[in-house]
Amino acid sequence: MDFSKKLIKWYGENQRDLPWRKTTNPYFIWLSEIILQQTRVAQGLDYYLKFVELFPTVQDLANAKEETVIKTWQGLGYYSRARNLHATAKIICDDYNGEFPAEYNELIKLKGVGDYTASAISSFAFKKPYAVLDGNVYRVLSRIFDIDLPIDSNSGKKYFRELAQELINVKKPDFHNQAIMEFGALCCLPKKPHCEDCVLHDSCLALKNDTVSILPIKEKKIKKRTRYFNYLVVSNHTDLIIHKRTEKDIWENLFDFPLIETEDLNDEQTIIGSEQWKHFFNDHQVTIKNISNEFKHVLTHQTLKVKFWEIELSSLALFQISNQYKIIKKIDFQELPVPKLIENYLTLSTLSFAKP
Ligand code: ADE
Repeated sequence: MDFSKKLIKWYGENQRDLPWRKTTNPYFIWLSEIILQQTRVAQGLDYYLKFVELFPTVQDLANAKEETVIKTWQGLGYYSRARNLHATAKIICDDYNGEFPAEYNELIKLKGVGDYTASAISSFAFKKPYAVLDGNVYRVLSRIFDIDLPIDSNSGKKYFRELAQELINVKKPDFHNQAIMEFGALCCLPKKPHCEDCVLHDSCLALKNDTVSILPIKEKKIKKRTRYFNYLVVSNHTDLIIHKRTEKDIWENLFDFPLIETEDLNDEQTIIGSEQWKHFFNDHQVTIKNISNEFKHVLTHQTLKVKFWEIELSSLALFQISNQYKIIKKIDFQELPVPKLIENYLTLSTLSFAKP
């Protein structure tokens, strides 16, 4: 039995019951694939169900307010995916008459749709023989064929793309693609793969050559930088000052608080003496009610170390308001899209942000 047949048989016996596998509607498949990029199935599933319920058609998504789409996305990270999702829904409605194109070459032109997503939609929705190549597929192929080309090098990418395409089952590209990804997710795991009961045990060259644990090879290690955030949570009895992140940085278009970024977190006098602090408070003396413990928040390329400075003013007019800042009712803050870090802080904070 060949590679694809064995995988498809294994898939038939072991696949997880997932809603996007029971449809050929390209809108649902596109939605699920955008959500599942950089997100585990266990986390993505709830978001998929929420999106399908709130926006049952691509028209519903296109007609939604951007803020509603971002709010529904809240917690998934990589918010450019949510903005692209919304933009693409509008393009499908305006330029494609509300129907997803069936051709890979058209799909790949859509915002946020790369080779992986175009291949996934063409194979799952339209049964076209385009092989998907994601992290799971790289791992499975590198091990079965014992390939030590780095998967993040140009030559590696080209090699794996051609190999994946050669292996595709042209009669069942949809099953083949689901099967190889599922096999990577459930059996050929990054650490402690289930080699003892693997259906490809006898043909796996990495197992034969004892290279399973070092494959796949990556050339570049992600370099993480650490940033130090001092958030100023400035409020009076009922109102709160918030900040909309418009910069090209993490969390574009989400809401947080006025921020002083520093070289480290420990020197409180430096913060109080900083130009930014003086500017924010117009040189007024303010009373700091509480400085939170340190929150550590890990993103793909950055680690954030964060403290929240809780400051209560009798009048928010003391604070220098400019375009990026807004005064809102405290209880309205929870309606706005915020980064996961801010959501975590709100849950623990003693300030009352919740609706009564
Ligand atoms: N990850 C990305 N796409 C997936 C899919 N269709 N099924 C399960 N996991 C996935």
